[in-house]
Amino acid sequence: MGFTRKRVVNGKPNALPALFCMIFIFGHPAAANDTTLASLRQNTDISPIHTREPIRPIPDKTFLSPEKVALGEKLFHDRRLDSKQVIACGDCHNLNLGGTDQLAFSVNSAGTPTRFNTPSIFNVALNTQYYWSGKFETLDEQLTDALAEINTTWPQLIQTINSIPEYAEHFNNLYSEGVTKENIKDAFVSYELSLATPDSSFDLYLKGDTNALSAKELQGYKLFKSFGCVTCHQGANIGGNFVLQLDKLAPPFGNLNSTRTRLHGKLEQIRVPSLRNVALTAPYFHDGSATTLHQAVSRMIDEYLGIGVDDQQVAQIVDFLKTLTGKYKGQKL
Ligand code: HEC
Ligand code: HEC
Repeated sequence: MGFTRKRVVNGKPNALPALFCMIFIFGHPAAANDTTLASLRQNTDISPIHTREPIRPIPDKTFLSPEKVALGEKLFHDRRLDSKQVIACGDCHNLNLGGTDQLAFSVNSAGTPTRFNTPSIFNVALNTQYYWSGKFETLDEQLTDALAEINTTWPQLIQTINSIPEYAEHFNNLYSEGVTKENIKDAFVSYELSLATPDSSFDLYLKGDTNALSAKELQGYKLFKSFGCVTCHQGANIGGNFVLQLDKLAPPFGNLNSTRTRLHGKLEQIRVPSLRNVALTAPYFHDGSATTLHQAVSRMIDEYLGIGVDDQQVAQIVDFLKTLTGKYKGQKL
């Protein structure tokens, strides 16, 4: 936190991203578990030589109860919680596919396509707002909404979990009140908070390993900063921490016509998505309308920045974005 404050006081060129970092850190009250979120969102591992960077590494230490995480993991991947027993949270948020299902739109338990592209479940602890609209500020609130995807409601879910002996036992061992709405939330959220992917090549670079990025990847990062991508995609999650009001954006970022048109009648605002593990989460945008990263970056430059697209520069930025693929439980995604 000290480092953020210092950068703002200095008023150096990075002040704008620093200001967004302030919003990121201070602007939103922590969700389920204050201590865990606070510890995740502060990071002391950054190398002194990179403290002026607008992006921070993903913290690799979490302070979660392993038993609650294990319980949440079972629930997240268990299709029996769906009243039709066809889909689990982890089918749309597939950990083997970058935390998504790599479809433009997913199909939920009722057979209905989702309104928006499924975002990754990885690193959700570092987002301060959830959904493309950013309408939820806590994972607790979000969970109630997610129950619709698996065709259940709180009373039904409590009953289902109670009817599965292994769960009833697991809950009773961990929580004095056993299977309750609050405890189910606690288990789900504990698991979600554990889904961090630290140690991407870029994070190793931020932590001081100057050989972690090749010359062209570094060049891509320079372009990412000089084009102003970092104004929106910054902080530890390289996005996920604020919402754009589409009608209120001033130049140079007022050039959002395509997003505005595609969102017409659906949303007036859009959260800046995280770019962590973005090489794995195609197709891109709220409507899955960009099939490759090259296409997504070209469109960002063209539609958001309104400047000419140079294919070689796009390729360099893509090379940089590929360095954002992290490790889950020590294994590269
Ligand atoms: C049918 C596919 C599907 C299923 C099943 C599903 N989700 Fe999602 N999930 C989505 C979509 C789509 C969104 C984005 C919704 C939006 O932006 O309006 C989302 C968003 C989320 C987010 C917010 C991520 C972010 O950064 O914005 C979390 C957390 C989440 N889901 C957790 C869950 C949990 C927990 C379950 C199981 C109870 C679940 N999801 C089941 C498709 C699914
Ligand atoms: C004004 C804020 C802003 C700026 C500046 C910006 N972006 Fe974005 N970015 C967004 C928003 C909002 C979206 C979601 C757009 C949509 O879904 O239609 C997005 C989406 C993306 C995506 C797709 C992510 C996904 O998971 O679907 C990529 C990749 C991306 N941006 C890269 C960049 C790059 C590279 C730059 C600089 C050339 C950049 N962005 C500049 C706000 C911004």
